[in-house]
Order: sequence, then C-alpha cells, then structure tokens
Amino acid sequence: MSTEFDRATEAAEYIKSQYPAGFTTPKVAIICGTGLGGISTVLLPEGKVEIPYGQIPGFKQSTVQGHAGKLIVGYIGDNKVPVICMVGRLHSYEGYDIKDTVFPVRVFTVLGVPNLIATNAAGGLNKSFQVGDVMILDDHINMPGFAGLHPLKGPNDERFGTRFLPLSDGYDIELRAKVFQASDALGITRNIHEGTYVFVSGPTFESRAECRFLIAAGADAVGMSTVPEVIVAQHGGLKTLALSLITNVAVVEKPASGKDFGKAGTKSLDEGIASHQEVLEVGALASKDVEKIIEYVVNTL
Ligand code: HPA
Repeated sequence: MSTEFDRATEAAEYIKSQYPAGFTTPKVAIICGTGLGGISTVLLPEGKVEIPYGQIPGFKQSTVQGHAGKLIVGYIGDNKVPVICMVGRLHSYEGYDIKDTVFPVRVFTVLGVPNLIATNAAGGLNKSFQVGDVMILDDHINMPGFAGLHPLKGPNDERFGTRFLPLSDGYDIELRAKVFQASDALGITRNIHEGTYVFVSGPTFESRAECRFLIAAGADAVGMSTVPEVIVAQHGGLKTLALSLITNVAVVEKPASGKDFGKAGTKSLDEGIASHQEVLEVGALASKDVEKIIEYVVNTL
C-alpha cells in the first residue's frame, strides 16, 4: 500500500514536470483564502503556469464558491521570487478527510518549499476588530483537534517530521514583523492586528453563545481553515505566516426575548448575522491590500 509520503512524492514529481523552463524550488507556497484568490494576480505574467487540481495525482477538487481549484507556479516581485500558489483550498466541512485537506502542504514539504503563507477570511471576536481589518496569526486554538480531528492523527512518518510536535511558536516572528514593515512602507491605513485564530469545523457560522465561548477561550478571530495546514507545515519544517481578513464581526449579545416580541425598539433577529455573501464582498474590497502586503513580504524572502 502506498504511504502519504509516496503519494505526496508522486504529486510533487508531476508538479515539477510542469515547471516553466528555468524554474527552481519555490521559496514560498501561498494559500489563497475565501475571496482572496486575487493574490494570484500578483504573480508576474512571464513564466506563469497553471496546474488544475484535477491533473495532479492525489489532489481533490474544492467545491466552495470563490475557490477555483488550481496551483499556479511563477514569480513575484522585482526580485522574481519563485512561488507556488494554491487558488482554492479544501475544507473538512465539504466532507473531505482532514488528511486530504492538508495533502497540498505535504506536497509542498516534499517539494522542499521553505515557507508557507496562508490567508483566510475570518470572523472578528475581539471587540476592537472591525470589518476589513487584517489579523496576523500569532497563535491558534485547534477546536476540532481537542475532539480528535487532527491532521497528524495516525502513524507518524518521520520523513515528514517528529511524532510529538511542539506548537508554541508556530507563527514565525520574522515573517510577522515583515507584514508590519510592508504595511508601513506601502502606506496601508487598514488596521493590522496580531492575535489568536480559533479553527472550527463549520459549515455553520457560530451561534451567539458559541462566540461568547470562543472569546472566553482566548480567541480573537474565528474561521474554518488554516490551522490544519499550519500544523502540517510545522511538521514538515516550513516557516509559516498566516493572515486573516476580518470579513464580519461576531454577534455576541443574547437574542431579543420572546417576551418583547412585536414591541417597538426590539432588535431584528437577523441584525449582524454572518453571511457567505458578506465574506466575499469584504474579501473583494480588502484583498487588494493583502495582495500588496504579500507581494512586498515575498519580495524580501
Ligand atoms: N465564522 C467562521 N468562519 C468564518 C467567519 C465566521 O464568522 N467569517 C468568515 N469565515
């Protein structure tokens, strides 16, 4: 039976066979989050090759609106830094095995990519966060992991990494510093925070009580991705940077009481609720700044 390492090696060989002439090992793999596919437009037109997931052995297709499902290899910035970009990620809420959702990161590990930049759309839990803000992850809470849904569960292959992986410094401080430098150099006025991202499995957005629970647990933003990929990147020794675009803010107050129903001044039941449409719209507006930041950071790698 083939191992995950064998399958990742087969996929890596196929991807290498598609590299444009003269292309070397990518310095960074970039995962474009929901509504953030525009990051791939930062790649220079020369030497750019698209590889649909369907052509890559072992890759599954993404089904979410706003996730096209292809790898793009090419170059970013004046320094022509070689990159590999994932447009369309897989989420466990689509029904995939968590191992399938992280398979692309296994492939990046086998390819020898030294850095990962993951992006996502997230809900703001921290009271000071506003829609359109950016949060640099400096820590995470892996909620499904507490219940045994963990990307490293099962036999450990030492060719990827160690059995008991420490995660106390999962988010590289030099890469985080570069985001602040980029934002200053580019004159970006959007708020840039650092904080804790809590991974939930979705696909429902959180209830009000769940939001209060996650805030009490120490989370600043909530989303349905990134943490499994970061864990697997850490396992394979990649340095990681992860950015959340805050596309909505959590509703935490108790719902209106049934006793007051119909009385003047009671809040509409759907006021402030999260919607996928809102996530896509904010992504479209704010993604330009995230693209510029990533271009700047990658150019310094
Ligand atoms: N919750 C979970 N995932 C999300 C959210 C949210 O509020 N917004 C964007 N992705």
